[in-house]
Amino acid sequence: RRLDDGAKPLAGRKVIVTSGPTHEPIDPVRYIANRSSGRQGHAIAAALAALGADVTLVSGPVAIPDPIGLNVIHVERADEMRDAVLAALPADIAVMVAAVADWKVASASDQKIKKHPGESIPTLALTENPDILKTVGHHTQRPKLVIGFAAETQDVESNARAKLERKGADFIVANDVSPSTGIMGGLRNRVKIISHDGVEQWPDLDKDEVATRLAALIAEKLMQG
Ligand code: CTP
Ligand code: CA
Repeated sequence: RRLDDGAKPLAGRKVIVTSGPTHEPIDPVRYIANRSSGRQGHAIAAALAALGADVTLVSGPVAIPDPIGLNVIHVERADEMRDAVLAALPADIAVMVAAVADWKVASASDQKIKKHPGESIPTLALTENPDILKTVGHHTQRPKLVIGFAAETQDVESNARAKLERKGADFIVANDVSPSTGIMGGLRNRVKIISHDGVEQWPDLDKDEVATRLAALIAEKLMQG
């Protein structure tokens, strides 16, 4: 069945999308974060909503506006993102696009840490953040389709395939985010779709076009089984 213009193949389907970075506080004025504009995740949430899905977008701190017509939950930290995602289950589809900080500060300070020039320089003790995609991929209420991203700077395909297995995902959307590609923070993306069936290289596309194609692929997979 072709996806006609105006068709709503995802009507009645519940989708969770994560987008943007997370901010892990060091103290009330400082944080650790990944680079992420939220553009790709927000575009995917909007594209899925355009196909009729009931989308909950869990977004870290971003400078771009909320897509209109969907339920947006704003969070700061990875722990908050995990809680919001788990609270949104059950769902038919989960697309984890967020650039979640892998570590948080073990004991963030309640007070601003003051500098003491020429004296002690603070060191940060870190601890692991929850892996939200892995949690969802192995959850008792696992969505029918679980999709992750893999931002890599080397060995893109093998790293992405390892993530597919480890995290219990159906697809990994892999991209090369080496600084020379200009993908980070930009408007375009060049991705590979890694699944248990193989690898598909997509051409260089606008992030909105990547989102439209991915939403169509999701709708197609869901209709197949
Ligand atoms: N992810 C997540 N929670 C985390 C870390 C990552 O949900 N704490 C998700 C991302 O949203 C993405 C996928 O897992 O969909 C892969 O993220 P990535 O950072 O590429 O993988 P990691 O497993 O964190 O491995 P590494 O950073 O070492 O490459
Ligand atoms: Ca990571």
